[in-house]
Amino acid sequence: MSVRILALVGSLRAGSHNRQLAEAAVKLAPEGAEVELFEGLAEIPFYNEDLDVEGDVPAAAAKLRAAAGSADAFLLFSPEYNGTIPAVLKNAIDWLSRPFGAGAFGGKPVVVVGTAYGQFGGVWAQDEARKAVGIAGGTVLEDVKLSVAGSVVRFAETHPVDDAEVAGQLAEVLNRLHAHVEAPAAA
Ligand SMILES: Cc1cc2nc3c(=O)[nH]c(=O)nc-3n(C[C@H](O)[C@H](O)[C@H](O)COP(=O)(O)O)c2cc1C
Repeated sequence: MSVRILALVGSLRAGSHNRQLAEAAVKLAPEGAEVELFEGLAEIPFYNEDLDVEGDVPAAAAKLRAAAGSADAFLLFSPEYNGTIPAVLKNAIDWLSRPFGAGAFGGKPVVVVGTAYGQFGGVWAQDEARKAVGIAGGTVLEDVKLSVAGSVVRFAETHPVDDAEVAGQLAEVLNRLHAHVEAPAAA
C-alpha cells in the first residue's frame, strides 16, 4: 500500500512559491509514496475551543482532521512572515493538536521545508513550525530540512520542479520521509 504524505502549505496566494514547491513534491514522490496537497486551509476558522465541539466541528476543520487522520506522514511548507510562521499554518497545527493527546499528528513523522525571500529561506519560520508541530504530537524529523532562499527571484521564471538543484533536494527530503515511515528505527 502506498505511503500517504499530506502536504500543508502556509501561503494562500495563488502564485505562492511554497505551493509550487508542494506541487513539485507531488510530482517527485518516490515509488511507493504519494503526496496529497491539502486544499482548504483558508476556509478553516481560527482555532477556538468553543467551536471544537465533538460531533459539531466546523466542516473545513473536520476535513483537515480527516485528511490528517488517514495520512502516514506530513510535509509542511512554510514561508516566513515577519520572522515567524504564517498564521494559516499555525492555525492548521492548532486544529490538528486537539483533542489533547489524541490529535491527528499522533506521533507520525513530520518534515518542514519551505522557501522565503530572505537570504536564509525562512529558517526562523520553519524552526517555529517544527517546535509547534512537535508539541502538537508529531514526530519531527529534525535533521531533514530544506530552506530555499530568495524565493521571489529564484522562482520568478522557473517552477521549483524545473530547478534541478531544488528538485534534487526535495526528492531527497521525500526519500528520507518515506524511508522513515517504512522503517522508523533505521531512518
Ligand atoms: C506579511 C509578510 C511578511 C514577510 N516577512 C518575511 C520575513 O520575515 N522573512 C522573509 O524571508 N521573507 C518575508 N516575506 C517575504 C516572503 O518570504 C515571500 O513573499 C515569500 O515568497 C512568500 O511565500 P509564498 O511565495 O509561498 O507566498 C514576507 C512577506 C509577507 C507578505
